[in-house]
Amino acid sequence: MKKLWGGRFKEQTEGTVESFTESVSFDARFWRHDIEGSIAHVKMLAKQKVILSKESVSIIKGLNEIAKEIESGKFRFKESLEDVHMNIEHALIKKIGPVGGKVHTARSRNDQVSLDLRLYLRDEINTIQKLIKGLQKAFLKIAEKNIDMIMPGYTHLQRAQPVLLSHHMLAYYEMLERDSGRFADCLKRLNVLPLGAAALAGTTLPIDRKYVAKLLKFPAVTENSIDTVSDRDFAVEFISAASMLMMHLSRFAEEIIIWNSEEFGFVELPDAFTTGSSIMPQKKNPDVLELTRGKTGRVYGNLMSILTIMKGLPLAYNRDMQEDKEPVFDTVDTVKACLDVLNKMMPGMKFKKKNIVSATDAGFLTATDIADYLVNKGVPFRDAHAITGSIVKHCIDKDKTLMELELKEFKKYSKKIGSDIFKHISIEASVDARKSFGGTARKMVLARIKNIKKK
Ligand code: ARG
Repeated sequence: MKKLWGGRFKEQTEGTVESFTESVSFDARFWRHDIEGSIAHVKMLAKQKVILSKESVSIIKGLNEIAKEIESGKFRFKESLEDVHMNIEHALIKKIGPVGGKVHTARSRNDQVSLDLRLYLRDEINTIQKLIKGLQKAFLKIAEKNIDMIMPGYTHLQRAQPVLLSHHMLAYYEMLERDSGRFADCLKRLNVLPLGAAALAGTTLPIDRKYVAKLLKFPAVTENSIDTVSDRDFAVEFISAASMLMMHLSRFAEEIIIWNSEEFGFVELPDAFTTGSSIMPQKKNPDVLELTRGKTGRVYGNLMSILTIMKGLPLAYNRDMQEDKEPVFDTVDTVKACLDVLNKMMPGMKFKKKNIVSATDAGFLTATDIADYLVNKGVPFRDAHAITGSIVKHCIDKDKTLMELELKEFKKYSKKIGSDIFKHISIEASVDARKSFGGTARKMVLARIKNIKKK
């Protein structure tokens, strides 16, 4: 096949080179954005009288027809035409004749591919943010529905202090809020028009970049043509924001996998979101969560790929940069799939109150409350800590919980302890006493829920 760039070549491209260098097998997914960008470009060329207005009309009509053909599956992308950009341009020339060749006036694939990637990511970030919001709502719902459920809070995966399940769930809400913010931040730097940088140096033709920016809803245009065609920071940032999101989803997945184990028994997953074993009939496995955790690895891998692809490149465009797309696409697909399936699974999760609450019995969860009680009676915290430690040791020796101790047993360790101690060491009292801002007291958690809902 004769190449659009074939003018200076004597020989045909070798077959293996064609398949080695092609990108259309994956960048065809840009077609919509590629056409959208070309239409805006052509409108500008006509406005600037670089091409005739009737030429622009015929080009735009041709591009719209091609869009319909691609949409309906009639269009055949050809590997020999290398990438999505040249496939579409070639089809345009075939459709409307040599005037179609004017679409690429004052443009290079170097700025075109940056435009496509930015338009594409702009849309995908929007979708991802909606999915994140959906998941945040699911966490909020669980928090509202279970506002009275007290569970052991953990540090080092050891029972530490009683907390509200709602508080624990809302921790994920906050992580997701920051994740969404990171995508918004990435969007700010990505949302700048690259078109008009041309190959690397700008163009001699009288283009109007601000006009194209307006048509494509970019709030700004890039400042330096060399930087424009060399820059993939925005793609790195995108995958980095996605990696952080996946880290959070993976931690949640891990936690629920643990909670779903027979040993914990805190949660039951909906049947529709679990799978069986081919050999052990009793099994109900949390595969959705395991795969969410597992797929985090490929997103981190994508981040490493793109960083490594970019690190050695002299300015400006190098063909290495074609390798930016698959990590980006894989990240988009993976993140959306994980968010989607978790969104669907969350409402079906059942928290097993009996197991959760009874897990708060053992582990001396309210020991800190005894120390705080002593502090309120004027005992220095270090001493209070030591006294409480001895009380816990006493409990272990006598095989009793803190609530099962008698007042005289308490008094052996400190005269300052009175009968009001029992009011302070129930798990309910312990939770409700943590009224510091951001703490687990019901009052604070309810206030946070109300605040979130106001937003
Ligand atoms: N398919 C190429 C890419 O994805 C488009 C840009 C090609 N530019 C070039 N000068 N060969 O990077």
